[in-house]
Amino acid sequence: MDTLIVEGGTPLCGELELSGAKNSITKLMVASMLTQESCTFHRVPHIGDSRVTQAICEALGTRFTQRPPRTLEAHTPQLHSSEIPLSLASHNRLAIMTVAPLLHRQGRAVVPAMAGGDRIGPRPVDFHLEGYRAMGAQVEVRDQVYYFETEGLRGADLALPYPSVTTTENLLMAATLAQGRTFIRNAAIEPEVMDLVMFLQKMGAIIDYNVDRTLVVEGVGQLRGAAHELMPDRLVAASMGAAAVASGGDVFVRGARQADLVAFLNTLRRVGGQFEVKTEGIRFFRQGPLRAITLETNVHPGFMTDWQPPFAILLTQAQGMSVIHETVFEGRFGYVEQLQRMGADVALYDTCLGGGRCRFAASNYQHSCVIKGPAALRGAQCAIPDLRAGFTYLIAAILAKGTSTLTGVEHLDRGYEDLAAGLQGLGARLERRT
Ligand code: EPU
Repeated sequence: MDTLIVEGGTPLCGELELSGAKNSITKLMVASMLTQESCTFHRVPHIGDSRVTQAICEALGTRFTQRPPRTLEAHTPQLHSSEIPLSLASHNRLAIMTVAPLLHRQGRAVVPAMAGGDRIGPRPVDFHLEGYRAMGAQVEVRDQVYYFETEGLRGADLALPYPSVTTTENLLMAATLAQGRTFIRNAAIEPEVMDLVMFLQKMGAIIDYNVDRTLVVEGVGQLRGAAHELMPDRLVAASMGAAAVASGGDVFVRGARQADLVAFLNTLRRVGGQFEVKTEGIRFFRQGPLRAITLETNVHPGFMTDWQPPFAILLTQAQGMSVIHETVFEGRFGYVEQLQRMGADVALYDTCLGGGRCRFAASNYQHSCVIKGPAALRGAQCAIPDLRAGFTYLIAAILAKGTSTLTGVEHLDRGYEDLAAGLQGLGARLERRT
């Protein structure tokens, strides 16, 4: 396991360039398997989740050609397997996303039922399975493996119980080549979903999206190869923005797009952080004290759940009592215990604080928290449990007085490209030891 030794207390200052979004490239690689023609992606991030998804696609028959620095060609003239190897299924949540190309080209898909990814709740895939059943696939679960089979997917009227991102993307891919028209009601409309919509449209798909969050897909006979420049990673943009402001620094995030960050920027302004939108990116900085706020996460266009952990760190530095209500994932406060050990005053609640009732209201999930600030954080030893929690610990360590030792640094590599070097470039005092 790699370790990061962090000497805290330095504001982050300088410039950082965003690469393409993790949650876009992985789906686009899978979408490229819907055609026998070659697809090209630009602004591809060098991160663990891209590599794992690439390995999954290769195991099924895709050939990749890397064109440095950031172009990747994906070509799947033939699929030679319809089974996702168990060894590749547990790293991220992409295995289940391969069902659409496998069913359209092979008529069957075998996917281990152990979806990986961050430990932020149970993360079931029941919406995906129900969607495929409604589109004419037989779906069975035996010995922790999903078996899908079909003689041809057909359009269906699907209403998602919740606007799930990967369910929307999965069923969207399935619908592009299904016979007839598919309605995906209560669909997710996150910018990453729209990046996939744009890529599929270039491939020849017909997808409309209505004002009421309904995606309407007219199935076509076949899709062709296409090229796409990935959207920049708005999770990394917000993480860095929050870190810059929390540390009292000044960071220009090259490539950050205002349109993807509207809710984040509004919230940053409410708390007293500053930003300046420029043609080529966004500058994040701070000029005065930070104020406590009440914050609720939600699906797009709300405040994104992935922005919540880094924002919580920011709120530990704000004057007064802040409230966060997490409404997307039931287990997204796993990082709090470690923060408490570092000196943050954070208390968790199973009630809906600060806003309306959410779907976790009647449960005992600890999905609200109260943060009292400002807190003087102190360095600590901690084991990183997953990607986003890891970034949160790292920022806490950068703000803290003294030395922190972070183990399990590999988790960060799944979604952040050379994070240690990037933060060193911003003046953070840290060293990675292998
Ligand atoms: N849900 C179900 N059943 C399903 C699918 C989802 O109950 O079949 C529930 C989930 O348990 C959760 C809610 O619906 O409570 C929303 O989950 P969603 O499906 O939208 O999340 P996801 O698709 O698994 C993606 C991103 C996450 C991001 C969320 C929300 C990918 C690979 N992951 O997850 O990103 O937090 O959408 O925007 O796209 C990350 O990048 O670190 C990350 C966790």
